[in-house]
Amino acid sequence: MSRSEFFMAVKTSPEYFDLLNQAVEREFMVSIQYFLQHAKMEKIIKRTIPENIILDKTTYEAVGKFLREISINEMKHAADIMERIYYLGGEATTKSGKPTIGNSISEFAQLGVKAEEEALMLYRKIIETAGQIGDWQTRELFEKIYRQEEEHLFKFQEYTSFQDEKEEPSKVPYPEWRKIFTDDYFDLLNKAVAAEITGIIQYTNQHEKAALLELRRKNTALETVMDTNKAEVVSKLLKEIFMVEMEHFEKISERIYLLDGEATFTPDPLPVVGETVLDFLRLDHALESSAILLYRQIIAEALKRGDTTTRHLFEEIVRQEEDHFWDFDDFLR
Ligand SMILES: [Fe+2]
Ligand SMILES: [Fe+2]
Ligand SMILES: [Fe+2]
Ligand SMILES: [Fe+2]
Repeated sequence: MSRSEFFMAVKTSPEYFDLLNQAVEREFMVSIQYFLQHAKMEKIIKRTIPENIILDKTTYEAVGKFLREISINEMKHAADIMERIYYLGGEATTKSGKPTIGNSISEFAQLGVKAEEEALMLYRKIIETAGQIGDWQTRELFEKIYRQEEEHLFKFQEYTSFQDEKEEPSKVPYPEWRKIFTDDYFDLLNKAVAAEITGIIQYTNQHEKAALLELRRKNTALETVMDTNKAEVVSKLLKEIFMVEMEHFEKISERIYLLDGEATFTPDPLPVVGETVLDFLRLDHALESSAILLYRQIIAEALKRGDTTTRHLFEEIVRQEEDHFWDFDDFLR
């Protein structure tokens, strides 16, 4: 069956793509939610668990690890759904729903139960709709995702009645050494978190779109050399870089929580995908470039305030952003 016959067999519509994009938005939302909860666990473990309660510490660490795994799993769902949307000729969204983070294991679990239940409802509707229009591949994909969301739901349900150690409000006056961590400092650090989220969304989306461009390659030798190989290589590169941005997101948000700040979950600047591999590269090049400028500013500010740990963190991160910049730069030459 040729591709055009295939597209005639599946009757997509703007409403159908909207529905699938609602799923992408959900997946981004929960992925960010669980990832930030995972980052917050570091602080909860350090602050609220008496050293002698070994059993509790084990539970906390297990939940922290679980949240990270599940977050990556949700990101994979987002990627699989985006891949399908591009394959069907649609445009995958770069929007994310608004996550809610919470402050304790039981709260994370309750929020998780709510999010997973909402996902199951939406995915039931998608499975039904995909069946009605004969889009069997999408139906199969969502049946697979549905099973995993059920597992997530059951896992979160286990923890909803967990007895958390409550963080005691400090009785000592605000310590002198912490006075460098003012609101405007957290705002600045959160610009970095926002930039990392933008990278994560932009690169996963482009990775899927580039994979499709590769799939639809034209077969002349010249085009293969000039463009289609590029799509394949860029798609692979984007995936690698995406993983590094996840680590940055993790480290920066952990640092913010540890300093008693709240991490943002809103991407800034807004992610932009583009139409061609060349567009992707130009946009990504610009994104890395603005991140480098921002992180230099953070390093200078951390130096001024004497926040050595944050400064070192960003010195390490900015080196990697420079690598990304040159990776994209190579392709633009
Ligand atoms: Fe999911
Ligand atoms: Fe889930
Ligand atoms: Fe980054
Ligand atoms: Fe980067």
